[in-house]
Amino acid sequence: MIYTYSEKTLAEFTHRLNSGIPVVMPTETVYGLAAKIDNPESIKRVFEIKKRPFFDPLIVHISEIDQLRMLSHFESPILEILIQKFWPGPLTLVLPKSSFVSDLITSGLDSVGVRFPNHPIAINLIKSVKCPLAAPSANLFGKTSPTNPLHVETEFKSKDLWILDGGDCHIGIESTVVKVSEKNGIIILSILRKGFITESQIQTALNGHEANYQIKNVEDKKESPGHMKHHYMPEVPMIFLNHPINFNDLKEKIQSDFNLIPDEIDQIKILKPKKIESFVTLDFSTDPAIACRELYGKLRSASEKNKDLIIFEKKSYMKGELWDSFLERIHKASSLHY
Ligand code: TXA
Ligand code: MG
Repeated sequence: MIYTYSEKTLAEFTHRLNSGIPVVMPTETVYGLAAKIDNPESIKRVFEIKKRPFFDPLIVHISEIDQLRMLSHFESPILEILIQKFWPGPLTLVLPKSSFVSDLITSGLDSVGVRFPNHPIAINLIKSVKCPLAAPSANLFGKTSPTNPLHVETEFKSKDLWILDGGDCHIGIESTVVKVSEKNGIIILSILRKGFITESQIQTALNGHEANYQIKNVEDKKESPGHMKHHYMPEVPMIFLNHPINFNDLKEKIQSDFNLIPDEIDQIKILKPKKIESFVTLDFSTDPAIACRELYGKLRSASEKNKDLIIFEKKSYMKGELWDSFLERIHKASSLHY
């Protein structure tokens, strides 16, 4: 059920969360399936509803900086700059966790991902329950993230799930995930997931600061358990083209290539077409920020066109950090790449 935001529905959603039932809230990135972090049963329900394996940790959402201090005792001037510059906003900081955060949320890791969303409805909901909310994206595990309430409703048709309407998400791709740690007096910033906030924005924010720090990109399963080869998959198999191709010339090759790939990788089902006769192509804005906003909605609507295949062709202008964040998602959402 989709509910319009009002004082009354805020109170009802608060009551539902307090009773241990997860609800769906809008954020500026994507919609999240939220549960109070002090209720383990409710957190378990989040994993069950999403069919998410317990090895993939959840992000904890806060509505004021002070709440961070109970989740992590990590201190560093670098951390303070990142908070000041990017919160509230689409940056998740992975920090050493305090004992207040349960192992269920962090999948047994000694770190916790924390995010202060820049969305008034999410902030008001967290304030109203007076407790941080753990919230993964409100989609089935491995599937396309939702950027409006209808996406969530369609995804979980059979479930009695309450969705608080915040309209279309302004950013449309998930937050940048940065792990902050310290080694030999040097602060290490590991980018675990690319997002709307880019490495150069982080670099610029820290420019001129005296403290020693290093930024690195990490594609390591141990550091980032949510990093799968495939993710964000639409309902129809998709192929990713690095160069234009003539579909008819390649049809047979595509069909036989599909037969060669496994049916499942990392517990995510790899979609394969039954036949390849028709296809739909994806078309995005030339502005990367708008393309990100359009991304998941277009993956979903392409899936509804009753075609055998979705084709995405990378264009020569898709260069730069924000395009990288965009392309990484489409790449993972595709079953095959050419
Ligand atoms: O924009 C967002 O981040 C959205 C909205 C709802 O806030 N949330 C989101 O959550 O994308 P989810 O669960 O779909 O993705 C969280 C990612 C996963 O890849 C997970 O592995 C990683 O963050 N993560 C969470 N805690 C972590 C930790 N302690 N160490 C490493 N990675 C972590
Ligand atoms: Mg997700």
